[in-house]
Amino acid sequence: MENSTQINTEKINFSLEDLEQDIWVRLVTGAVKSRNPFHTPCVATMDKGEISLRTVVLRKALAKERELRFHTDIRSPKWKELSLNPSISALFYDAGDRIQLRVKGKAVLHYKNDLTAEAWKNTTSSSRRCYLTLHSPSSFAEIPTSGLSEEIEQENFTLAESEMGYSNFGIVSIQVHSIDWLWLNHAGHRRAFFDYTDGSFQWMIP
Ligand SMILES: Cc1cc2nc3c(=O)[nH]c(=O)nc-3n(C[C@H](O)[C@H](O)[C@H](O)COP(=O)(O)O)c2cc1C
Repeated sequence: MENSTQINTEKINFSLEDLEQDIWVRLVTGAVKSRNPFHTPCVATMDKGEISLRTVVLRKALAKERELRFHTDIRSPKWKELSLNPSISALFYDAGDRIQLRVKGKAVLHYKNDLTAEAWKNTTSSSRRCYLTLHSPSSFAEIPTSGLSEEIEQENFTLAESEMGYSNFGIVSIQVHSIDWLWLNHAGHRRAFFDYTDGSFQWMIP
């Protein structure tokens, strides 16, 4: 997976099937490479008729399962929003290759199960700090603060102490229903739509 580019971006004629494979190679690469542009998508949820957007880290992309995952604090507003309305959308943009993906799907929330246990085991001390704030993420504060004690802020804690964060740790799994792919190209843009709900792959007018 070193080189995510399957599609020769100089050659415009490729099949929808090749393209779909290329998209998933890019997503898988985005999940494993922290400097990849697909590593930090923007994710949208609905809250009482209002849209909320935020950046997250793509932690896992599974092509066969058509699944994307990110980690979050279960005390965060997005977790509550998704438990009430699982509709979710993720936006990716690779400025180098000029490829945009608009992913739509349904969120499945994982909490204290085998999936979260495995992922938690592999989180770094630095990441674990995010789950150790006394107050919920997105709650207001009197002063500018990380919400962490000085010891925790400086990662001055044992692995056992960091285990407390597990009770706040959740995984959002996006079951992908569709992908809208857009490629900006000087010789003419290209666009395609992959609908997994009925299995149809179609070209679109950009
Ligand atoms: C580069 C970057 C990566 C982020 N990754 C995550 C993430 O993986 N999970 C997460 O919950 N928040 C992440 N955040 C913070 C969110 O964007 C957001 O500010 C926070 O989760 C609160 O969102 P909410 O109030 O909608 O729940 C990240 C922010 C940035 C800038």
